[in-house]
Amino acid sequence: MTALRARHLRLVPVVAAVAVAVAGLLGAQAQAAEEEEHDPLGYVIDLAAVEDPESVADGAELYLTGCVSCHGLGGVGSPRGPAITDAGAASAHFYLTTGRMPHAAGPDEQPVRKEPAYDPEEIEDLVAYVASLGEGPEIPHVDLAEANLQEGGDLYRGQCAACHSATGAGGALSFGQNAPALGEATPVQVYEAMLIGPGLMPVFGPETFSEEELNSMVRYVEALQDVPDPGGFALGRVGPMPEGFVAVIIGTGAVTLAAFLIGSRRHGEAEGDSEPVRPADASEGTGR
Ligand code: HEC
Ligand code: HEC
Repeated sequence: MTALRARHLRLVPVVAAVAVAVAGLLGAQAQAAEEEEHDPLGYVIDLAAVEDPESVADGAELYLTGCVSCHGLGGVGSPRGPAITDAGAASAHFYLTTGRMPHAAGPDEQPVRKEPAYDPEEIEDLVAYVASLGEGPEIPHVDLAEANLQEGGDLYRGQCAACHSATGAGGALSFGQNAPALGEATPVQVYEAMLIGPGLMPVFGPETFSEEELNSMVRYVEALQDVPDPGGFALGRVGPMPEGFVAVIIGTGAVTLAAFLIGSRRHGEAEGDSEPVRPADASEGTGR
């Protein structure tokens, strides 16, 4: 084998790694697009499962491993977490699909949005179990056909912007807590947040607002999400995780390539002197 071919062979893993990364990114994007198409409102779960006794039983088991340490047997609460007997399907669905639960930090820390810890079927079961514990709000039926964008904008500026900012970028509150940015919330999650008032957020329930007004606010938050990003490179709006991922891939790719070029230059210089065992020679030897 010539030194040149050996050098090209050494590029193979680099090219393969980049190809895998690009395929992965395209895959993630395709998956996100497919989810948007089949589940544009972000239900994630099959709503019929919430009433299914089998889901309730499966959820009870998951609860015993993932939740009981903080919320107590039967959801009665403990010093580490509040009672959730009357939290309802809407609250369980919100907290599980936004990844806020299971809570990672202490009871005084604000739970944050993250990748959900459970898959859709497990979320289905846990929601069914929490809903079975008492009387709480149901998962809302979002109806954007009922929404009025202009009314939604007026309501948003009056009711939400003080905490979440006029653009939905979020902002700091007292007690070291913050109103999160609204860029990732699905329509169902926005509606649920209004129904349950998580953490320091007040409840904007059906006692105060009509269904049409609630849908209009959901619609307006969705419209805010479509405003072009104020900074940075949106990458088809796959979200911050893949963007970081791409930065890492391009960054490591460039560094690897630079290292490779420097390395092969050195090798080229060294080739004049006779080097007893170079890696390429060794592999050729075992290949015979
Ligand atoms: C480490 C402790 C901890 C674990 C584990 C935990 N939680 Fe929580 N949970 C909390 C705390 C603390 C809060 C209150 C958070 C807040 O400020 O909003 C909370 C809030 C909730 C709420 C909202 C309560 C309400 O009044 O609407 C629900 C629903 C909930 N948790 C469900 C779950 C489920 C289901 C699990 C298991 C998958 C779980 N939690 C695991 C600590 C925990
Ligand atoms: C008093 C401040 C305050 C007001 C007013 C308020 N929110 Fe919130 N909102 C919060 C806080 C705090 C959280 C995070 C709760 C937690 O700790 O889990 C939140 C969370 C949310 C989330 C979840 C975001 C995510 O990505 O998980 C949505 C959606 C939301 N709010 C929408 C609204 C809408 C719509 C309005 C107006 C109808 C509104 N909020 C009014 C403080 C507020």
